[in-house]
Amino acid sequence: MMPAGTAPPGIATPEAGATVSAEAPVPAIALEGVTKRFGTLTVLDDLTLAIPPGTCCCVLGRSGTGKSVLLKHIIGLMQPDAGRVLVEGRDLATLDRRELSATRLRMGFLFQNAALFDSITVGENVAFPMRRHTDLAEHEILDRARAKLGAVGLADAFDKMPGSLSGGMRKRAGLARALALDAAILLVDEPSAGLDPVTAGEIDDLLAGLKTDHKTTLVVVTHNIPSARMLGDELVFLHQGRVLARGDVEALEASDDELVRAFMASAGATG
Ligand SMILES: Nc1ncnc2c1ncn2[C@@H]1O[C@H](COP(=O)(O)OP(=O)(O)O)[C@@H](O)[C@H]1O
Ligand SMILES: [Mg+2]
Repeated sequence: MMPAGTAPPGIATPEAGATVSAEAPVPAIALEGVTKRFGTLTVLDDLTLAIPPGTCCCVLGRSGTGKSVLLKHIIGLMQPDAGRVLVEGRDLATLDRRELSATRLRMGFLFQNAALFDSITVGENVAFPMRRHTDLAEHEILDRARAKLGAVGLADAFDKMPGSLSGGMRKRAGLARALALDAAILLVDEPSAGLDPVTAGEIDDLLAGLKTDHKTTLVVVTHNIPSARMLGDELVFLHQGRVLARGDVEALEASDDELVRAFMASAGATG
């Protein structure tokens, strides 16, 4: 796999961020005062967050608190009612279609349900983004798809249909597809939900390896405290559209807020 930040051949890489300071790198992702409402429901409420490149931010919080909505704002599937979402220093709202599409290609997204195409093989699922977004030759696409599947421990699944895979295998196949374009930023929505602890641990190992080996920036929504403990450089606890607490595991365990402490004590809870 290529290091994060290196686009595969055939893909335009967006220029460096607009503002570069000597002290702090441009955040891989920044949300500035983001507010999102659905009707009368305010899901994100003046949310501000910055994720440095090459780090892992774990997003915690109760169900329905806006974690998936937050990820959809980062990938540009949803737009804020107020505030800005910046990816590598670029305000998504200011990008034209071509620029937005180039920025999106910097990001891989593993949806909560893995969302594989069930009518094509696992290998073709992984090949799909390469067919769509690169001009790689056929044999390169197949080689890379095999390599991605190998990297998630599914070398033998290339010709299988998604329907024949277990939940954990589907997740890993989804991860291989999210990695098909060597995304510099990977957004993962509840990777361990519904998985047994061993399989969940394997997914965590894969994600940790991406950060270590490829300096991939990770945003991981999780209910799994052991995962957050292992992966998270920073944990962000969302509640009612705001950041209720942030810091490392120890900081959240010692939070002044009872809800945060209770959540942290429910180690391994999924949902
Ligand atoms: N497209 C949408 N239209 C209306 N309401 C939505 C939409 N997407 C999410 N919501 C609502 O926003 C809230 C947060 O949802 P979500 O981000 O999925 O929560 P979670 O933290 O469990 O991922 C929920 O109340 C959900 O019903
Ligand atoms: Mg969700």
